This record gives sequence, C-alpha cells and structure tokens, in this order.
Amino acid sequence: MKKLLGILFSILVIANASAFAEQKVLSLYGSAEPRIIEKLAEGFEKETGVRVDWIRMSSGETLARLRAEKSNPKADVWWGGTLDPHSIAALEGLTEPYKPSIFDELDPRFRDPIGGNRVIGVYVGILGFSVNEKLLKSMGLPTPSGWDDLLDPQYKGLIGVANPNTSGTALTTLATQIFLRGEDEGINYMKKLHKNIANYTKSGVAPGILAGRGEIAIAIIFLHDCIYHMEQGYPVIAVVPKEGTGYEIGGLNLIKGAPHPQVAKQFIDWVVSARAMELMPTVGSYQLPTNTKAKVPAVSIPIDSVKTVDYDFAWVAKNGVRIADRWTREVFTLPR
Ligand code: G6P
Repeated sequence: MKKLLGILFSILVIANASAFAEQKVLSLYGSAEPRIIEKLAEGFEKETGVRVDWIRMSSGETLARLRAEKSNPKADVWWGGTLDPHSIAALEGLTEPYKPSIFDELDPRFRDPIGGNRVIGVYVGILGFSVNEKLLKSMGLPTPSGWDDLLDPQYKGLIGVANPNTSGTALTTLATQIFLRGEDEGINYMKKLHKNIANYTKSGVAPGILAGRGEIAIAIIFLHDCIYHMEQGYPVIAVVPKEGTGYEIGGLNLIKGAPHPQVAKQFIDWVVSARAMELMPTVGSYQLPTNTKAKVPAVSIPIDSVKTVDYDFAWVAKNGVRIADRWTREVFTLPR
C-alpha cells in the first residue's frame, strides 16, 4: 500500500511539474496605476492563457531597475509610464525596437514619438493641477489658473509634485517649464516653485491623493488622475494651466534580452489593440487611447482642446538625465 501511494504521489508530482512547464509566463513592468496594469494582465491571461507576473514602479524607478538588470534582464515588457524614461532606456540600449503587428491602427502623432519604433506610444495624458478648492477657500486663497500663479508665496507649503529622478510625471513638469521658458529660465522657475513645495513624492500621482485628502491644496499631476480622484469623491477640480501645458505619451517597450521574447511580442501586439485600450476606462484610467479604433472615454479631456507646449520628446530623450541631474543639484538642495 505504502509503495502504491508512493508511486501515485510521484505521478502527481510529475504531472504537476509538466503542467507548470507548459504554462507560458510574461514578466511585466508597469508604470501606470496598478489597477490598470492588473486589468491588462488579467485580460491578456484570459485571451491567451499566458500568466502575467507584474510589478508597478514609477517610470524613473523602472529605468533604474533596467539599468541594474542590464546584464541579466528579468522582465520582458515595460508598459505605461511617461515616454521620456522609456526613450532614455532605448537610447541606452536597454530595450529593443519592435513594431506591433497593428501599428497602422495607432495615431501617427503619438505611435512612434522618437522614431525607429524604439518606443511605442500607448496613451496620452495632459499635465495640470488638481486643486482642493474647498481647502483654499477655507484659507481665503484663490484657485491658481496658471504656472506663474503657483509662485505666489501665499501657496507656501501647499503645493505637491513628485521627484523627477523617480517620477515621469515630475520629469514632464520640469521639461514643460523648459519648453515654456528655455532651459535656464525653466530651472529658475523650478527654484522659485521649490519654495512653495510641501513635499516631493516618489510617484507622480501621490500628490493628487494628498490634495484630495486636504494635506496639501494643489498637486501637479496628470489630469486624468484628477478626474478619477473626483469620481472617487475627493473635493478636487482639474485646472489646465493658462500659459500652456505639457503632456505625456505613455510608453511601451520590449526589453533587450527579455527572458520570454515570443510572449513579449504577443503581449505588445495585444496591448495596443482597441479592445485592450478599452479596458482602461473600465477601471477609471482615463488617458486618451492611441489606437484610433478605441472609444475615447467621455470624461477625458481631448488633447486638441488644450493649449500645449511644443513638447519635444526627442530632446528629452537626449537631455532628460542631464536636466534631472541639474534639478537635483540646483533646485532640490536649496533650503525651503
Ligand atoms: C500615473 C498616470 C500615468 C502616468 C504615470 C507616471 O500612473 O495615470 O498616466 O504615466 O502616473 O508615473 P510616475 O510615477 O512615473 O510619475
């Protein structure tokens, strides 16, 4: 009997091991909100049977992780987060160009921002302010309508933004000032803004939550996140800065030396489809989709309705590391 049980046990172990070996796995790094990464992972798994192991890190954090793993890459695909750190990764040879099979369905303005299919654009998000008007009113303060308003000493300790070394949102904020004013004036603007900053967070969206809770009054974040926070019942409103503002293109990259290159390409082809992009608003992720066949969420702010700066993605790809470094040395270290 003992022997029979032993044999049965071995058969079970072998059967399990081979089932395990057959299940395909994709290792995914995601830099948008965790709820949408999870939704996409589930959607892909449902359609293909491929198990998706994912982690959420901010855009700059993911870039740092890819650099650290260069000689032994752990992930296959990097989806979401702002384009700039994706482009820097591409220029540093950490990723590989890949043209999705349905590339033609993607909006030509956003699908290949730095050329050569080095980073594929998957969504668009507009930068702005999430303002807790209730808190400002209780303090007798007006709602800011533009970037220059944020420099007023009346907002000291009331503004939040992330750190451009870890957050793509914050790097977009820094580059936006440079495109509005020129590099040195942009850095000067950030120095003045620094005096009013309560806190620099690691992730881009975090100041929005602080503004929603009334711990600060103004967050510099992407406005689709503000719209989600409004839906969640936070007393905030979305403000598009009147001088013009920057925007992000969400990035998608195949990681060089990916452990599972076949499923990686399968995932990339799938995640740019209209049906994958239409999963985003089902969990309150209101970026504008780049697939022209995908429905645009009714609550999203159309990019054409907004005055945008001439955001030069190729310039940030080449200069992003340098300007973030300038910010650290010349702005972050200043007393507040
Ligand atoms: C949020 C936004 C995304 C954006 C991301 C950047 O998740 O919804 O559209 O790409 O922030 O994150 P990071 O932490 O790098 O600023």
